[in-house]
Amino acid sequence: MNGGELGGLAALVPDLLAGRPLAVLTGAGISAESGLPTFRGPDGMWEGRRAVELTTPEAFAANPKEVWRFYEWRRAKLREARPNAGHVALARIENVISRMTLVTQNVDGLHRAAGSRNVIELHGTILKTRCTGCGVNEPGPDAPFPEIPPRCACGSLLRPDVVWFGEMLPEGAFEAAAEAASESAVFLVVGTSSVVAPASSLATIAARGGAKVFEINPMLTPLASGADGCLRASASAVLPVLADALERGAA
Ligand code: OAD
Repeated sequence: MNGGELGGLAALVPDLLAGRPLAVLTGAGISAESGLPTFRGPDGMWEGRRAVELTTPEAFAANPKEVWRFYEWRRAKLREARPNAGHVALARIENVISRMTLVTQNVDGLHRAAGSRNVIELHGTILKTRCTGCGVNEPGPDAPFPEIPPRCACGSLLRPDVVWFGEMLPEGAFEAAAEAASESAVFLVVGTSSVVAPASSLATIAARGGAKVFEINPMLTPLASGADGCLRASASAVLPVLADALERGAA
């Protein structure tokens, strides 16, 4: 892929270099090339079940051990995972342009591991636990828990510090993401199926605010018809090309 293959996005490089704001929304697809499975699609399964069935408070209340087995499996995969060229490119872009907000639905921490700084984690983080009793919020161990479901020192069950279906997003996270979207001149939607609200509404908020909306996803999504441009390729193919173009322009 070369600069020309950025399509209409190439024409916006000077605007970004001139300080017009960029906002980016990422989903599980950007971490797929780090070996982390997505939620939907052919790899989006876990032991023959849809992973989404386990990401609810009802599933945790009914069977915390089963839900924790799923999260221990994800935490083990994450221990082997490294940021890929897509994550790294977003960190490079943040270093070159003056205004960028990265909103992610991912709970894997790979954007920060790649060096991104202005990150809004809409769905929390798998790297921390939260006590269902006293509410204490702590980093989880680097190794597997000796026993699942793990318990807090207060005796109550610990849960992953993530957002499940039907739960509120972390305080202020969506408001900050919506503000970044509505102020942005360019809004990139990377590696998400764009079916989970409220994250899926950010592209509309951005477009209403006047942003040019571009999707980077090898597959067709519901966003495509409303976007200004769709790059049907993987995040690790497109984002480094954009980072190169911005770095060249800034040199
Ligand atoms: P999905 O699994 O729904 O979608 C992943 C998207 O990534 C799909 O559209 C793929 O086509 C695309 N994709 C796959 N490989 C890619 C690549 N290399 N580069 C770019 N795109 C690629 O994941 P999300 O949209 O992130 O929420 O899912 C949203 C939310 O649903 C998750 O945050 C999670 C889940 O239930 C909660 O747990 C609350």
